[in-house]
Amino acid sequence: MTAAPRTFRIAAIPADGVGKEVVAAGRAVLDALAEISKGSAAPFAFAWEEFPWGCEFYERTGKMIDDDGLEQLKDFDAIYFGAVGWPTVPDHVSLWGLRLKICQNFDQWANIRPVHFLPGVQSPLRKADDTELDWVVVRENSEGEYAGLGGRNLSGRGPGGEVAVQSALFTEVGCERIMRFAFDLARTRSRRKVSSVTKSNAQQYGMVLWDDVFKRVAADYPDVETESVLVDAMSAKFVLHPEDLSVVVASNLNADILSDLGSALAGSLGLAASANLNPERRFPSMFEPVHGSAPDIAGQGLANPIGAVGSAALMLEHFGLPDQAARLDKAIEATTAAGILTRDVGGTATTEDVTKALIDALNV
Ligand SMILES: NC(=O)c1ccc[n+]([C@@H]2O[C@H](COP(=O)([O-])OP(=O)(O)OC[C@H]3O[C@@H](n4cnc5c(N)ncnc54)[C@H](O)[C@@H]3O)[C@@H](O)[C@H]2O)c1
Repeated sequence: MTAAPRTFRIAAIPADGVGKEVVAAGRAVLDALAEISKGSAAPFAFAWEEFPWGCEFYERTGKMIDDDGLEQLKDFDAIYFGAVGWPTVPDHVSLWGLRLKICQNFDQWANIRPVHFLPGVQSPLRKADDTELDWVVVRENSEGEYAGLGGRNLSGRGPGGEVAVQSALFTEVGCERIMRFAFDLARTRSRRKVSSVTKSNAQQYGMVLWDDVFKRVAADYPDVETESVLVDAMSAKFVLHPEDLSVVVASNLNADILSDLGSALAGSLGLAASANLNPERRFPSMFEPVHGSAPDIAGQGLANPIGAVGSAALMLEHFGLPDQAARLDKAIEATTAAGILTRDVGGTATTEDVTKALIDALNV
């Protein structure tokens, strides 16, 4: 008798631009993986529900998400997200109205962004040709510079008189939980090291608290090597000494910038995967490529689906299916090694070609 499949309910939110193309690609690859599992000892399946939220929805309704959107999402096992943003809607309206609304309300406080170098993809770093490079950016995802605190005022003074305050929020609780997460992650890696990114020379309140908490948490992990590096120096280190990195923990803004740098060093923003985790599992976690909606290439079949498929692998790990996640990662490596590459990484393949190659590679 074959076992009934374990079914995961996933809310798909493709949103805007290439988000739609890469979510469709990721869904096709995941469904192919589930199909292969049929008849095995541990079959699984995905029950998808797709939501139309994003900038087109905003243009029709004046909202980025239904009023009860979070209520609709809260019982899913996970959210599979594309990218939000389109030139017709101000970016701060679209980002805060959808993606940040989900991340913040579902307390997805840990954002994991691996920087992974793939065979067959040329890195702009010469060092990548003969050095093993592989690190993970752990981004504090609930506060810091993206806490949304501040305001615009004094516009009544007339043209040129307005002021704006944008405050960063650092709490001991917020710093401690992301740092413990980073140290626990480091313990699962061959190089047990955590690099803390700071800017405490200039930001003397929030970032000094960040440094103090890092020192305190590090004392509980004597087996893990540590360093504390200013964000400007860390951006240079990403380029000059990336072989010295394993887990990099940083605040919301610093990690956002550094992870884009990391993915560009690995070859393209289109390759980078990410997971927005609520580690306590009180709410669904959200998996999405790092890149945005790429209006410059949207709708042309040029989007690289690898970031979205890599994010699907992180979702499988979150579901407790590490072997299936590894199978997806292997399919990605086999595809790039075979030279089946989209334009952003120097190839001529379409999104559809790469998706098909990934599915074929699953069956090998
Ligand atoms: N998580 C998100 O939803 C998210 C993240 C970043 C930006 N955005 C939004 O996306 C819109 C565009 O922002 P942007 O141009 O700064 O960043 P972007 O990531 O959309 O694009 C930057 C560059 O990378 C390329 N690129 C991105 N994804 C690619 C892919 N899958 N394959 C191949 N090339 C790819 C684009 O063509 C572009 O040249 C804005 O509205 C912005 O607010 C959303």
